[in-house]
Amino acid sequence: MIRIIMLGAPGSGKGTQTQLLSKYFCIPFISAGEILRQEIRKNEKNKNYIKNIINKGKLVKNSFIIKIIKKKIQEKIYLNGFILDGFPRTIKQAESLKKYIKIEFILYLKIKLENIINRIEGRLIHESSGRTYHETLNPPKKKNIDNITGELLTKRKDDTKKIIITRLQEYEKFTKPLIKWFKKEELKNTIKYLEINANTSIQYIHKKIIKKLNINQKNN
Ligand code: AP5
Ligand code: MG
Repeated sequence: MIRIIMLGAPGSGKGTQTQLLSKYFCIPFISAGEILRQEIRKNEKNKNYIKNIINKGKLVKNSFIIKIIKKKIQEKIYLNGFILDGFPRTIKQAESLKKYIKIEFILYLKIKLENIINRIEGRLIHESSGRTYHETLNPPKKKNIDNITGELLTKRKDDTKKIIITRLQEYEKFTKPLIKWFKKEELKNTIKYLEINANTSIQYIHKKIIKKLNINQKNN
């Protein structure tokens, strides 16, 4: 049983590493951003609210995302572990999560600002699966085509320079304080906080994460 939270700035590689870890451990993942983007496509009622916020680069209301994630985590497939990508993103969200589930690991992907913009600006996504590529750093086998389905890749609407600036401000204001919060939780022995240098290659980071998780699982 392993339950992991992926923490990091926009573009730090949370989604990319989540997909690799999910395969490695054979456990499912929950991506808050993906769920919200799916809601825009499928849920008429919430569509405009979510779209407006995401396209401004702001965070959706705590109560809104907390309700969605809580319901999702209770689904049967997550009983034996999961990776949470992009949740919690505020202290309120972390406090709420703590009340109903025990998390073993926090993986904080630490990235330099100069790498963020480049990664986000070149990102390509496969909409229905959330698979992520990069035009130059992690290109698909065929230009603009998803490796698995053969469908066209697109750009995220919030991946523009202007919106990235707001996303980074939101990260600094609401999400970064979580690092301190999780470190305090670690002192109470409730979780294990692991920091990873996310400025290197995708495969190198993946290997580092596996190594750190394996060492710390043995120690638990
Ligand atoms: P979300 O989709 O979670 O966006 P984010 O946090 O801004 O993070 P990103 O998905 O942009 O980056 P990532 O870390 O996943 O990087 P990736 O692996 O793709 O959230 C979107 C929005 O939804 C938020 O702005 C907010 O409005 C809302 N939301 C979501 N959760 C919420 C919550 N809990 N509360 C409130 N609102 C919420 O990699 C980026 C690129 O770099 C890719 O192209 C990839 O191929 C490439 N890459 C990755 N790793 C490397 C590497 N090591 N070397 C080179 N290239 C790399
Ligand atoms: Mg992501």
